[in-house]
Amino acid sequence: MKQRVCGKSDLKLPVLGLGCWAFGGGDYWGPVSQSDVNDVVRCAVDHGCNFFDTAEMYNQGASESSLGIAIQGMPRDKILIGSKISPSHTEPKKLVEHCEASLRRLQTDYLDLYMVHWPITAHSIVHFTTESIPTPSVSEAFAALKELQAGGKIRHIGVCNFSAEKLDEAMATGAEIAANELPYSLLMRAIEQEILPHCVRRGVGVIGYMALMQGILGKPYPSIEAIPILHRRTRHFDARRNQHCRHGMTGAEAETMAALAAIRRIAHEQGMTVAEISLKWAMAGKGMTSSLCGSSNVKNLERNLAAALEPLPADVMARLNRATRPLLEKLGPSFDYWQHPDNDRTL
Ligand SMILES: NC(=O)c1ccc[n+]([C@@H]2O[C@H](COP(=O)([O-])OP(=O)(O)OC[C@H]3O[C@@H](n4cnc5c(N)ncnc54)[C@H](OP(=O)(O)O)[C@@H]3O)[C@@H](O)[C@H]2O)c1
Repeated sequence: MKQRVCGKSDLKLPVLGLGCWAFGGGDYWGPVSQSDVNDVVRCAVDHGCNFFDTAEMYNQGASESSLGIAIQGMPRDKILIGSKISPSHTEPKKLVEHCEASLRRLQTDYLDLYMVHWPITAHSIVHFTTESIPTPSVSEAFAALKELQAGGKIRHIGVCNFSAEKLDEAMATGAEIAANELPYSLLMRAIEQEILPHCVRRGVGVIGYMALMQGILGKPYPSIEAIPILHRRTRHFDARRNQHCRHGMTGAEAETMAALAAIRRIAHEQGMTVAEISLKWAMAGKGMTSSLCGSSNVKNLERNLAAALEPLPADVMARLNRATRPLLEKLGPSFDYWQHPDNDRTL
């Protein structure tokens, strides 16, 4: 699999990485067996898709534990592990404890990339804890990450969901930020407007997440109601029909369905599936280092690995861009798709 250098760092990532959120099973994704995880991880490594993205919060640590079991016996230097610390755990002492706990669950000595999951602000912390805790200091948090790096516990420091301003603030601490992980799919293109070119200018790699928008660009859902309720909480969908939505807006369902219909048409004409064309589009995004796709079954993974081999012709890229532009314009520049823009956690 083709690899790309992550920003100014010496980290090289495959163009397609494996999203491990579902590993370990849980309320959000349903049950996932360890034997399926073992098979998927083995198949991914065999095909050079060797970047595994997890987080301490995915299934309360079960994603990390499950990945840790799956990689046992594999040469550690053939695998790249990215994990994330929740912003509410970034007070230095806590941060070190939480990093150690991730390492234990993953049964490894070091992480290749350790990311702060959302910006460290009072606003994002509310979403990560039920306790009332003071907002940790950004400079102290990044100093603690630099110490972990100096001690060899983490190879690279990364962030997720950081706006240009938050990224600059993190970089001003002197920490070398290898990557910013951001949502990016045909139905989620807001990062193209500011943060993606900003990362490129600052030499920070970009890892796109939710390349299939949690299966909406993969599974043939016949209607909006057929999409699992927790997978349609973004501003694409009308909050009045989903008690799990936090954004409180009426959504962009007409534009979303029109974009999906156009993508289906273009995919059909090209003799591809919607998942295949969507992954190819995401991996080819200007400035993208790697795109993450979650899969807990080998059949889908094999299709995704095949999609990573051949790029899309430029004219097909352009048609997909045109087909999804009305949705991009309707949803606006905020890439916190789960919140009302007034409550944007990336800022
Ligand atoms: N940094 C952050 O804040 C953040 C936020 C969200 C996600 N992420 C990361 O990004 C990763 C990817 O996002 P995601 O897992 O939420 O969503 P996703 O990758 O967009 O979609 C995953 C879904 O797509 C299905 N799928 C995969 N390949 C398919 C194919 N070829 N055809 C049809 N369906 C297919 C999977 O089903 P099967 O399992 O059945 O294959 C699963 O239901 C996560 O796992 C996580 O590591 C990071």
